[in-house]
Amino acid sequence: MFQLKSDEDVELLRKSNLLVSATLATVAGLMKPGITTLEIDRIAEQYIRDHGGVPGFKGYQGYPATLCISVNDEVVHGIPSRRILKDGDIVSVDCGVLMNGFNGDSAFTFSVGYIKPEVAKLIRVTKECLMLGISQAVTGKRVGDIGHVIQRHAEINGFSVVREMVGHGVGRNLHEPPEVPNYGKSGTGPFLEKGLSIAIEPMINMGKRHIHQDPDRWTIRTADKKPSAHFEHSVVVRDDNADILSDFEIIEEAVYKV
Ligand code: MF3
Ligand code: CO
Repeated sequence: MFQLKSDEDVELLRKSNLLVSATLATVAGLMKPGITTLEIDRIAEQYIRDHGGVPGFKGYQGYPATLCISVNDEVVHGIPSRRILKDGDIVSVDCGVLMNGFNGDSAFTFSVGYIKPEVAKLIRVTKECLMLGISQAVTGKRVGDIGHVIQRHAEINGFSVVREMVGHGVGRNLHEPPEVPNYGKSGTGPFLEKGLSIAIEPMINMGKRHIHQDPDRWTIRTADKKPSAHFEHSVVVRDDNADILSDFEIIEEAVYKV
């Protein structure tokens, strides 16, 4: 039903995704009060180019930067700017790399200095939502099974799921079929097949699920101005466990050292 990736394709996808993860690990070391989001973007772009990749988002539908950097009530697609990060901010960084014809796509939400316990819980639960979603990315399950477990985990923890933006197939194109919503009913939607590569990317709000788009036509923020978190992995569907192509371990090691 969908275009499935060969083992060779998967290894190229993995390389692109590992460069995304290494870039996000570099970004982790920059998450300190006083830096601007544009400075972070410049360093990430240089890192990607120094390692043989090209920024995957830059120029995509006119997007002007390497990273999407979304702070606090910004959900996704925040454009790097002269905005200065401060203690207590949470910062979602979404990164894409194009290399050898394949796209890597992954995102991680960082914190700057001390954050409130409720905000730390939002970040933890959002990452758990992603890992639960990935647990469903196996042969024979359906797209709705992924959304169902993500939605259930977010809502039992008192949070809400953004509906308007979804995960997606990923490969030679940044966005391929199918769409992968972060909400839904189990046992519905297209069947997942071995070799399907998808980016799963829950966007979870502390308050209500509703969002607005800024006049810049990119930045998405929560309607109620409460914080939102976002994590994304690119994975390949396999029989027993999904193969996770991006890597949070190197990011978390870098976070630990900040
Ligand atoms: N991870 C996001 C997505 O898959 C990033 C896209 S930003 C864009 O939709 F600039 F490339 F559009
Ligand atoms: Co994506």
